[in-house]
Amino acid sequence: MWLKLFVSLLATLWKLTWTCENFAPFNYTLDDHDQWKLSVEEAEIISAPDPCDEVSVQDQFIPRLCCKILNFTHPIEQIIFDNCATEELEEDCFSEAIEQITESLTITNNKLTSVKKGTFRNIQLKEIYLHNNRIKILEDDSFSNLSNLEILNLNQNNLQMLNPDAFSELPKLHTLNLVFNQIRILQEGVFKFFSANPVVHLKCNQISRVEDAFKGSLARDIVLDLRANRIENLAEGVFNNHGFEDVNLNTNPLKTIATKFCGENCSMKNFHCICCYLNKDGLQTIRDLALIKKTFLYVGGCYDATYGDSILDIQYVCGGSKNNRAGKLLLVLVLLRSFNDFLLP
Ligand SMILES: *[C@@H]1O[C@H](CO)[C@@H](O)[C@H](O)[C@H]1NC(C)=O
Ligand SMILES: *[C@@H]1O[C@H](CO)[C@@H](O)[C@H](O)[C@H]1NC(C)=O
Ligand SMILES: *[C@@H]1O[C@H](CO)[C@@H](O)[C@H](O)[C@H]1NC(C)=O
Ligand SMILES: *[C@@H]1O[C@H](CO)[C@@H](O)[C@H](O)[C@H]1NC(C)=O
Repeated sequence: MWLKLFVSLLATLWKLTWTCENFAPFNYTLDDHDQWKLSVEEAEIISAPDPCDEVSVQDQFIPRLCCKILNFTHPIEQIIFDNCATEELEEDCFSEAIEQITESLTITNNKLTSVKKGTFRNIQLKEIYLHNNRIKILEDDSFSNLSNLEILNLNQNNLQMLNPDAFSELPKLHTLNLVFNQIRILQEGVFKFFSANPVVHLKCNQISRVEDAFKGSLARDIVLDLRANRIENLAEGVFNNHGFEDVNLNTNPLKTIATKFCGENCSMKNFHCICCYLNKDGLQTIRDLALIKKTFLYVGGCYDATYGDSILDIQYVCGGSKNNRAGKLLLVLVLLRSFNDFLLP
């Protein structure tokens, strides 16, 4: 107990030394992706005196990313801070202050725990990559008034819920990546900000309840990937008033599905439900919908009999990243098993 307190006190004191006045110099590169690439060593300020395609800071120690280390006088297409042990972004660095970054901002494989209010506001960026951090909290207006933003990647973070007020005025956002978080509920209206044709990746979360997430949104042709979550039922009308291109519920422990889960003003071109353990009524609901709506396609049941019931196991679906080893092992097991079945019919 005392030791713990002592350690946390030390950690706090250590963090207090991360002011923006004194920090260790770092190395970075400037690259025009064509004729030149310049490495700058032991710098304290990133300075791009000419237009440049990419500024990259990799494998350095920048626990607090301060505005004053950025001194751009010319446009830069992309800026990357990768694996810099970054825990904090000084406020407003990437808001009004930075008008020079034109395409994308990447702060990946770092230790960010939250995105503060207004961190990304009123800027012209098209892509923001924040994957593989420890982000647990998205404050209100974390991402607001980003008139050109098309892609936002928050994969591999620690989000347990999505703050509906974190996102606003994102007219061009079409891809939102939230794979490998711990989101539990898909709340009503949480995706109301979408207006383009959105693709939302929510594979490998902990979602057990699905509400009308797109309520209030004018989005069409929605692609919603909910593979490998913990969804047990779909309530009546949960997809009403929206047009989906693709809804993927593979590998969810679905038991029941309301007859009109996709009822009034709902259309769905593809509905995937492989290995989702539907009961007979559920299966019938899917079949009926397939008959009524010509655009509605039901893709398969659980491939239980042929490949063994673990072929689309959660670990298998989510095995690509954090659970890499588990995934591979399982694949081997599944292959062995199918081979066995093949040999011994
Ligand atoms: C910066 O570059 C120099 C020269 O290549 C190298 O000796 C030094 O270790 C680098 N510093 C960091 C923190 O990578
Ligand atoms: C910022 O960049 C400009 C142009 O490259 C340079 O003249 C100026 O000295 C830089 N400011 C600092 C604080 O390094
Ligand atoms: C939104 O951002 C633009 C610049 O991209 C700015 O001109 C405008 O005032 C901002 N609107 C609001 C409501 O902040
Ligand atoms: C379906 O759409 C029509 C026309 O837009 C609208 O009048 C009706 O209220 C909608 N149904 C529901 C359940 O919202």
